[in-house]
Amino acid sequence: MTANELRQLFINFFIERGHKHIPSASLIPENDPSVLFTTAGMHPLVPYLLGERHPLGKRLVDCQKCLRTDDIDEVGNTTHLTFFEMLGNWSLGDYFKKESIGFSHEFLTKYLKIPQDKISVTCFAGDDDAPRDDEAADAWRELGYPDERIYFYPKKENWWGPAGQTGPCGPDTEIFYDTGAEKCGPDCQPSCSCGKYVEIWNNVFMQYSKDDKGKFTLLSQKNVDTGLGFERTLCVMNNVASVFDTELFVPIIKKIEELTGTKYAEPNVRAHRIIADHLRAATFVLGDDKGVSPSNTDQGYILRRLIRRAYRYLTQLGAPDRSMSVIARIVIENYKDIYPELERNQEFVIKQLDREEELFGRTLESGMKIATKELDFVQNGKLAAAKAFKLYDTYGFPLEFTQELAAERGITIDIDGFHRLYAEHQEKSRVGAQQKFKGGLADNSEETTKLHTAAHLLQAALRRVLGDSVFQKGSNITAERLRFDFSFDRRVEPDELAKVECIVNDAIALGIPVGCAEMSVQDAKAAGAIGIFDDKYGDNVKVYTIGDYSKEICGGPHAANTADLIRFKIKKEESIAAGVRRIKAVIGDAAK
Ligand code: ALA
Repeated sequence: MTANELRQLFINFFIERGHKHIPSASLIPENDPSVLFTTAGMHPLVPYLLGERHPLGKRLVDCQKCLRTDDIDEVGNTTHLTFFEMLGNWSLGDYFKKESIGFSHEFLTKYLKIPQDKISVTCFAGDDDAPRDDEAADAWRELGYPDERIYFYPKKENWWGPAGQTGPCGPDTEIFYDTGAEKCGPDCQPSCSCGKYVEIWNNVFMQYSKDDKGKFTLLSQKNVDTGLGFERTLCVMNNVASVFDTELFVPIIKKIEELTGTKYAEPNVRAHRIIADHLRAATFVLGDDKGVSPSNTDQGYILRRLIRRAYRYLTQLGAPDRSMSVIARIVIENYKDIYPELERNQEFVIKQLDREEELFGRTLESGMKIATKELDFVQNGKLAAAKAFKLYDTYGFPLEFTQELAAERGITIDIDGFHRLYAEHQEKSRVGAQQKFKGGLADNSEETTKLHTAAHLLQAALRRVLGDSVFQKGSNITAERLRFDFSFDRRVEPDELAKVECIVNDAIALGIPVGCAEMSVQDAKAAGAIGIFDDKYGDNVKVYTIGDYSKEICGGPHAANTADLIRFKIKKEESIAAGVRRIKAVIGDAAK
């Protein structure tokens, strides 16, 4: 069965039973700050589950793009994915358990022709919040499922939702396909993760709402929310070993083999699967009509982590530059008929992947060297928080990334310590932004603080493009703009200015935390800091570091992170004296 056939069969089955087909919503949820991504088909339907009338009625069906990162560590096995498609049907206060279970049974056994004895189901065992779900179990029994294949589990297994902190939820009945694999012994049950049982469908009976105090109250209507795992079901239908062996992944994996010159076989299977999964997910996030860019916050950070992890595996396997965007093109080709937005946004997808590669590629190698060295020296099996924080702060290694490198050698990381350092860093930057240091800015508003950071980046970029003869001669910052005077003995050409702008904007896009350390003038010089080494600052000076970009003696204050600057634009370049040039520049909305 092809992917298209499965999608169509499901949707038609429910249309024939009175459901209206709704299109997939965006991966980035609308008006819902409680979750970063759409993690289930029910997400866009929350208002209707709570009682609002849906314009298309009480029975709906769809195929929804979803993204979940809670199981990211499992990606690499036969069934787990970060991005996936969920086929779902809904009753908004219409039919309930018996009919819903009847539909699922009929679809699986009559349409997909899965032998009934390959199916096991689970039901909610009951607790103080809601009773044992005998109604669901009876519905299964009536359809001929024996008690040995009906399992009862507590909330942890058989309750779904709410998707965020609060909202609709309820007991569920989950449907498992028995692969027949004898993995862990005769006592294996659907709740076991050995791989014998694969959950393919979940029918949630959304009758409750959870409030912010953790209390469950009955909703005004009884709903059904179901989710059939598309990739997993396709895998079952085609009797292949894993979701990565379906037509959805085969062309991606082929391309990974070609680019890396390695086979999709041990010891490379996990790495190939991670690359394929993460880049498929990244392509869908970037290619969404509400697509985001990699950054250090929210959706952008999850995206960044997916891309960087894929990139590291690709590099390890020897893939050439730009492999990520080559793979993204395959994903787009594969899916463009079903999700035309991918083709519409193709240029953005490719550009963002190439840019992130360029940004991270620069520091990955040096960061890996440092990481390897640090990990080689670990004595007690634990990497100190400060080391992990440095890898984050200076080399852009997400914590999980360092954790993974460490785990490969059986080393753990002081995670609490890392979070403490992170919080301290944030606090320092915040205090830094509030205080007025000697030598600091006259006007200490947030805008001028950010422009001050922009001045450091500008000086660093000018030195990269025009050489080390460039030095700050003076600067003047108002809330609206930055004026920066520097030594240079000719006009700066437009293409050079464009390069400078580009470097600063890259640093902003990278979302680099601005670091600050106090040290002696001598140490600052030894560390390669630039700036004015006079006695204005006393014996000890503050050195502000912005990743690999800039290291400068300065009184501050500065923005906490380059991302705060949003964008940078040069407005004017002129001569003000022999050998001295002046640049005027803006940031934020004014630079767009
Ligand atoms: N909302 C249910 C799930 O995601 C169907 O499993």
